[in-house]
Amino acid sequence: MEKPYLLHLITSEKNASPFDVNMAYDAGWTNITPYTNVEQSEIQTLVQDAIFSRSTSALTKTGIFFGGRDTHEAMDMIEEAKKHMVPPFEVSVFADPSGAFTTAAGMVAITEKHLKDKFSQNLDKSNVVILGGTGPVGVASAVICAKAGANVTLVGRSLEKAEKIAGICNDRYDSKNVKGGADADKSNFFNAADIVLNTGAAGIQLMSEEHIKNSNTLKICADTNAVPPSGIAGVDVMDNGKVIDMSPSKCLGIGALAIGNIKYKSQHECLKLMYTSEKPVYLDFEDAFKFAQKSV
Ligand SMILES: NC(=O)c1ccc[n+]([C@@H]2O[C@H](COP(=O)([O-])OP(=O)(O)OC[C@H]3O[C@@H](n4cnc5c(N)ncnc54)[C@H](OP(=O)(O)O)[C@@H]3O)[C@@H](O)[C@H]2O)c1
Repeated sequence: MEKPYLLHLITSEKNASPFDVNMAYDAGWTNITPYTNVEQSEIQTLVQDAIFSRSTSALTKTGIFFGGRDTHEAMDMIEEAKKHMVPPFEVSVFADPSGAFTTAAGMVAITEKHLKDKFSQNLDKSNVVILGGTGPVGVASAVICAKAGANVTLVGRSLEKAEKIAGICNDRYDSKNVKGGADADKSNFFNAADIVLNTGAAGIQLMSEEHIKNSNTLKICADTNAVPPSGIAGVDVMDNGKVIDMSPSKCLGIGALAIGNIKYKSQHECLKLMYTSEKPVYLDFEDAFKFAQKSV
């Protein structure tokens, strides 16, 4: 009998995400088992129960997916899982908490492509402002941009919280160029920005018409929010490099569904790589970004 493709979907939340379940089936996993309310201290037992119950040939058809809502917790879970593998009893692991890693990857990859194609510029040395940047999508976007050499301002309503999270981006993920900023000061940030990424909570507009009209340096504005009103005024969910009418610098807009399309491809490829790779893989937002770059 051919062995099934078993994905163990582990989350610290009350529910596993139906989005992730659908994505995993569509990527070829044949059986998906959710484990909810899981704590870090339980990862060792779960991982070792998964690896020791199958032959090494069937382990290539076994994987662990970490969901949840927290970037750092998901990265901790990857590390914890890796620590408790016992080669050759080892399986592939992928984290995408709240879809944040692949969403950030998709947004930054499309932004990078338009920046290159339309402005002959790279992320390197670009000034990037991330609105609502303290959530999981904002943090992953900040690290990806900063690692590509951008100067990143991660903006939140509380300066203290934004600075703390910017510090974690730099210290933990070695990204160096992330600084925190207060939402109250965002007009100043827009005036020196090449790129604005909106990663604020759904249904909240964080960049208004006035902001767009008064910002003279903007090249790209990308908005992950698909729930009206748009997170960035003048950016439609379908936009993929469309000029924002009221922008004095003819800034290009990228909307949530254009981002979602690349996010989907990136998550699909990561889920597939888990069982097609000859050796076990450990995938996070950096791997998701590589797939997203190939998909744009
Ligand atoms: N396009 C796609 O494929 C896709 C996929 C997944 C998610 N998304 C979207 O991506 C965005 C980011 O997701 P996420 O999970 O990272 O977001 P989140 O954690 O819900 O929110 C991000 C940040 O928004 C700020 N915020 C919350 N309520 C606010 C309010 N009333 N006014 C102003 N700021 C507020 C908070 O920062 P402070 O408290 O520090 O201000 C929070 O940390 C969401 O809009 C989500 O719907 C899109």
